[in-house]
Amino acid sequence: MNPVATPSIQIDVRVSQRSERSLAEDVLDGLTRPFKELPPKHFYDARGSELFERICELPEYYPTRAERRILEDRADEIVAAVVPVELVELGSGTADKTHVLLDAMRRADVLERYIPVDVSESTLRACAERLCERYPGLAVHGVVGDIERHLSAIPEGGPRVVAFLGGTIGNFTPGSRRRFLRRVGRLLGADDRLLLGTDLVKDAHVLEAAYNDSAGVTAEFNRNMLVVLNRELGSEFDPQDFDHVAFFDPHHQWVEMRLRARHAHEVDIPGIDLRVRFGAREELRTEISAKFTRDRLETDLGAAGLALEHFYTDPQELFALSLAGPSAAIRRGGRAAAGSAGARARR
Ligand code: AVJ
Repeated sequence: MNPVATPSIQIDVRVSQRSERSLAEDVLDGLTRPFKELPPKHFYDARGSELFERICELPEYYPTRAERRILEDRADEIVAAVVPVELVELGSGTADKTHVLLDAMRRADVLERYIPVDVSESTLRACAERLCERYPGLAVHGVVGDIERHLSAIPEGGPRVVAFLGGTIGNFTPGSRRRFLRRVGRLLGADDRLLLGTDLVKDAHVLEAAYNDSAGVTAEFNRNMLVVLNRELGSEFDPQDFDHVAFFDPHHQWVEMRLRARHAHEVDIPGIDLRVRFGAREELRTEISAKFTRDRLETDLGAAGLALEHFYTDPQELFALSLAGPSAAIRRGGRAAAGSAGARARR
């Protein structure tokens, strides 16, 4: 136990440069399929992260501004509803929007600890230091890890808000999204709440413009994945051999980004001892970004043992923040024993 409430930074590292191995595995798996595909997490090297930050400022890319607006309008309300002493943030990144929540927690005089979880150790350390300066007395306990694999590394505590912002959950395939939400659900104590940011289904033109900006930043971001492969696996992709493609798929309710080969060619990837062939106009999928409706969210959360308690949107209903807690059945059974003794006793 900590006898004195001194400001402190603790960082637990669960994943370090193992990321290189997972890139090799993902590339081998994804580029030997009939329909080529690479997971979007490989966009984010230093250059990719910088390009993403530029995307967030583009006139066409509304999600970042819409989510910030909702946070600014509702942070006090969220804090009053949960009364959290700590904030857990999954995929914290530069933690830009986090200030809005931490400020509200400080105003309510409940703020004790911030627990960011991110794959990038350098980003996490920089963010921890910045926040300790800005919030004197704040304890920061960071976890360097992959949110799909290392949720168990999050320290116990609470009452807390577990925030997953930015609409990043849209990157998960439907199956991994359900698995992830279930795991997050099991992480929540009775007084904890999930705060989930999701982009909403809307006019296809608005969606498509957000991923086909006129300045070409998103196209460069998309092609940057090939630059990552060249550096990490020694391949010689020429990003200019590929066109940026982004479209809304109304059946799946997601935006897809692809790279389309301008002409037939082959590329060596020495790091995984593979030679890949692209046909003319053949496409490689680099991202899905799911768009949600309130109904869909309620269903997905419900299947994960979570009950939607509040659904906040911006005035134009572009983006949503959902506040969800463990559903009654799980709350009765206690943190780890969902559906067991407690639930049975009531039947
Ligand atoms: C960070 C996953 C929320 O899907 O909108 C932005 C990434 N891709 N432009 C999104 C992204 C193209 C973004 N997320």
